[in-house]
Amino acid sequence: MNTISHIQKKFTAHEKLTMLTAYDYTMARLVDGADIDMILVGDSLGNVFAGHDSTLPVTVEDMIYHGRAVVRGTQNALVVIDMPFLSYQTSTLSAKENAGRLIKETGAGAVKLEVNPSQLDSVKGIIDMGIPVMGHIGFTPQAVHQIGGYKIQGKTEEAAQELLTLAQELEKIGCFAVLMEMVPSSVSKTITDSLSIPTIGIGAGPHCSGQVLVTNDLLGLTLGKTAKFVKAYAQVAETSTTAIQAYKADVDSGQFPTDAHSY
Ligand code: KIV
Repeated sequence: MNTISHIQKKFTAHEKLTMLTAYDYTMARLVDGADIDMILVGDSLGNVFAGHDSTLPVTVEDMIYHGRAVVRGTQNALVVIDMPFLSYQTSTLSAKENAGRLIKETGAGAVKLEVNPSQLDSVKGIIDMGIPVMGHIGFTPQAVHQIGGYKIQGKTEEAAQELLTLAQELEKIGCFAVLMEMVPSSVSKTITDSLSIPTIGIGAGPHCSGQVLVTNDLLGLTLGKTAKFVKAYAQVAETSTTAIQAYKADVDSGQFPTDAHSY
């Protein structure tokens, strides 16, 4: 499995970085097989896999279950695992214990957590344990109730400056990368230009060192409306519906199974 040195090498060589989500073994094998640099076991599994309306119900146990499956399906990519809500917000000690469990019990190579300035001590505590951390800034879904919905962050000069300061703090305390979600391209460019660690963007424009998407969105497997920043590279939901309908029609009419599928 890749380590953060692979990410650092590509970044130093000015090569773009790619990251995609996976929550299970099969998706991990597909993403890994396509030579993606990092696989994110995102807590978006709360929405995408479990059908919740936010990521807040996701537990450490959920992350460990999915993380293990993803690691089993990954040969090359660096597996980054999300720290879910309440696993790091209450104290540095619980942040360190939960980060340790996620790494020890899944085999992932790094953790990601959504950071605001009050969590910098916890981030540093985790890094000091020898665990690589990707800091997630901008729109942070675990704070959706405080933010008041899915809103672009860093829109005013003051908010942009706060994001820049936070990103610089994350670099200073030793994060190996910063993920920026839903921030204007001009802001992510300023942040990317000011850091000497990679930035990974989602809805953050083209200037980041790399990009991440939820794989279900990329595959066109997400039912309903997706965010403006999503590009669907396939229409797997439609293909699936057509296949399922064809199966039903065949069973209804007696055309499946035939002798070819029977013993
Ligand atoms: O949980 C997740 O999938 C994420 C991405 C949206 C970056 O954090």
